[in-house]
Amino acid sequence: MREKRVIEDLIMRSQRVEKYDVGETFRSLSEKTGIKPSEILKLNSNENFFIPLDFVRGILRQVIEEIDPRIYPRDEFRDLRLTLSANLNIPAENIIIGTGSDQLIDLAARLFLREGDEALSISPTFAIYERCVKIQGASYRGIPLKSDFSLDVDTILSSTTPRTKIIFICSPNNPTANQFRREDIIRLAEEFDGLIAVDEAYADFAEATLIDAAVEFENLMVFRTFSKVFGLAGLRIGYAAAGGRLAKAINERFQMPYPVSLTALRAATKMMEKMDYVRVFTSRLKSERSRLIDSLNHINGVKAFPSETNFVLFQVNRDSKAVYRALLSRGIIIREIGRILDFENCLRVTVAPSHMMARFIDGLKGALEDAGQQ
Ligand SMILES: Cc1ncc(COP(=O)(O)O)c(C=O)c1O
Repeated sequence: MREKRVIEDLIMRSQRVEKYDVGETFRSLSEKTGIKPSEILKLNSNENFFIPLDFVRGILRQVIEEIDPRIYPRDEFRDLRLTLSANLNIPAENIIIGTGSDQLIDLAARLFLREGDEALSISPTFAIYERCVKIQGASYRGIPLKSDFSLDVDTILSSTTPRTKIIFICSPNNPTANQFRREDIIRLAEEFDGLIAVDEAYADFAEATLIDAAVEFENLMVFRTFSKVFGLAGLRIGYAAAGGRLAKAINERFQMPYPVSLTALRAATKMMEKMDYVRVFTSRLKSERSRLIDSLNHINGVKAFPSETNFVLFQVNRDSKAVYRALLSRGIIIREIGRILDFENCLRVTVAPSHMMARFIDGLKGALEDAGQQ
């Protein structure tokens, strides 16, 4: 059969985009090691194991009893936006709902970037921004953080050109786990003419948010998710706050009419209504995070960085890839990061309830021994 030109072009364009690596899953690691999926500890994607499974399933059962899945969801978008508005203290018109924050980040890239444009971000940071930028045929540059992981605002601003349309800032940042200073991000919004896209996936585990500033500054968009603090990663739902004109244009013209399932919309609304209960688990998570950092710092050859997220970045005095593999062989999945600025051999682990952390710390001690002997 004749090769089709459109497919050829697409395959050529696909070479610009790196394959996304989600890491090992319960099943993939089980197949490789023979360890039962139920015995695998998955600490590589910053999911939230503090939210009790019974509680989430209870909410889903209620949702299932209430919904008519034969009907497209529409009123449910309005309900969730109103609930979010009341909780976040911003008008409902400034809120956009999407299929996880990933989809909204991708939408922002699609709307603001054309072939030949450029986007800036920081380095290191979450890999999705680069991917969304490259899909658009735009170029991407990550400006290194300063050695204390703070934003190098001057260098970011002086690196912009007339082709720069978006600056992505992940705050708190994945994988460095720190939140940036509000005034630094506001300065970017004031001095840069393009869009400042602030990813606040982890902001509920930190102290501050820029949601209010997204209403005030026309070029500031803040992305949030139900995947982390609410423990609903599997339902795929997130939201963004943006200035009135931008949010209206996106909601009315650019977002698909039904991007999120009825089940996810209803479940997210119910979870948000139980915010006080959810906060109990956030505070447990924060206590566990302190204990984890402490335990890591007590292991010879390990240094943990402070965290304002639900994960901890730490450095080992061995080859981080060998430590990662030795943990895998024990049924423990974390994320190998490697070098960050001047810090070699970094790894990232999700904060989870104490029995899981105890097993992780034990596994890490063994993994460090194994890695040392290689
Ligand atoms: C910084 C950051 N943003 C966004 C996401 C994805 O969020 P969602 O599940 O809402 O797509 C993640 C997931 O790990 C993340 O680390």
